Amino acid sequence: MSPPQRILLGVGAGIAAYKSLELARRLRERGAEVRAVLSPRARRLIAPLAFQAVTGQRARFELWDEEGEAGMSHIELARWAEAILLAPATADLIARLAHGLADDLLTTVCLASEAPLWIAPAMNRTMWAHPATQNNVRLLQTRGARLLGPASGAQACGEEGPGRMLEPDEIVAALCAPQALAGLRLLVTAGPTFEDIDPVRFIGNRSSGRMGFAIAAEAARQGARVTLISGPVALQTPIGVRRIDVRSAREMLAAVLAEIDDQDVFVAAAAVADYRPRELAEQKIKKGMAGMNLELEANPDILATVADLPRRPFLVGFAAETENLRANAMAKLAAKKLDLIAANWVGRPGQGFDAEENALLLLWPGGEREIPRMDKAEVARALLATMVERLESRASA
Ligand code: CTP
Repeated sequence: MSPPQRILLGVGAGIAAYKSLELARRLRERGAEVRAVLSPRARRLIAPLAFQAVTGQRARFELWDEEGEAGMSHIELARWAEAILLAPATADLIARLAHGLADDLLTTVCLASEAPLWIAPAMNRTMWAHPATQNNVRLLQTRGARLLGPASGAQACGEEGPGRMLEPDEIVAALCAPQALAGLRLLVTAGPTFEDIDPVRFIGNRSSGRMGFAIAAEAARQGARVTLISGPVALQTPIGVRRIDVRSAREMLAAVLAEIDDQDVFVAAAAVADYRPRELAEQKIKKGMAGMNLELEANPDILATVADLPRRPFLVGFAAETENLRANAMAKLAAKKLDLIAANWVGRPGQGFDAEENALLLLWPGGEREIPRMDKAEVARALLATMVERLESRASA
C-alpha cells in the first residue's frame, strides 16, 4: 500500500491548530493533495484563508456552504479522502466522533467516509487523562482509528504532561510510513509470565511488555498481520493487532503453538519465567514458619520449542543480560538456532525492563548491528528494518 495521496485535514479548535498549517505544507511537499476542513470553533483560532493559501484549495468549515457544496458536496468530499487526519483533535471533537455526532461539516464528513481515520490529539493533560476522553479514544481505536500521540511536554496552558500534539514531521512520518511488511504474518510474545504459588502470590519479573508491544505496533503499522501473545501487562492493544492474553509460561506456549502455523516470523520478546513452583497451593499459604523453601521446576522453553518445529518461521529471540552481553547473546543465537537475536542490558537505569527507552545489540549468523538508546518505538522500527534485510537475504540465498 502506498501512502495516501488525498488527505482531508480536519482541524479542531485547539491552539495547536497553528501547527496544522505547517503540517499541510509538509504533506503537500510529499506530493499529497490536501483539503482542510475546520471545525466551526477552529475558525476562531485560525483563518480558513491561511489553509487555502497553503493547500491551494478552499478550506471549508460550514455544512451549509452553498458555494462550497456546489464545488464538492460534503459526501463527495468524504469519498474523495483517502485518509482523514484530525490534527489537532480536541477532547470535544474526539467525543463527538466517538458518539457518531454529525452536527457540523467536519464530523459529518468523518461519519460519511470510509477512509482510515488518524487522530492527533491536543489538549490539556487532565482533559487527556480523563476517563471520558480515554474511553472515547479507545472506542474510536476499536473501530480502526489510528492514534498519533499525544506527546508529553510543556503545554499552552502552562502545565506539563501528555497532551501536546505531535510535531508535524512526526505526523507526516506516521501517515506516510512505508508498508515494508505488507503481507507478512508475525507472531510476537511480550511481557512477563506469572507463575502462581498460591491463590494470591506468584513469581513474576519486571518486564513491562513495552518492547514487544512496540514491535507489534510498528509491524502492524507497516502492513504486517500481527498476533500478539501477551503476559500480564498494563498496556493498550496496539492498533490493528490481534491480542491473546495469557498468564503463565505454559499458557503462553499453548497459545503460541495454536497460532504458529502459517506464521512467517516469530518474535519472542516475552520475559518467560524459566521456572515455576513445583506445586500450586490450593489455599493461601499461611505465615508462621521462620523461613520456607519453594521448590521450582523448569518451564518449557517456548522459543526452543518453536525452533524445533518441522516448519519453523524466521526466529527472532531476545537476550536480557546483566553481564557479557555479546558473548551470552551469541551463545543463545547458536543454542536456539535463531535467525536474529536482540540483546539488551537489563538492570541499568533508564533502559531495558520497564523503561521507556532501550538500546539493542542485534546479532545474526555472520553479522551484527548496534541500535543506540532511543524510544522503544524507534528501536522497534530499527529492529524490524534489520529483520526485513535478513529475511530478504535468506530468501535470495
Ligand atoms: N524464552 C522462551 N521461553 C522460555 C525462556 C525464554 O521463549 N521459557 C525466549 C525469550 O522470549 C527470549 C529468549 O528465549 O527471546 C531468551 O533466551 P534464554 O536463553 O532463555 O534467555 P534467558 O531466559 O534470559 O536465559 P538465562 O536466564 O539463562 O540468561
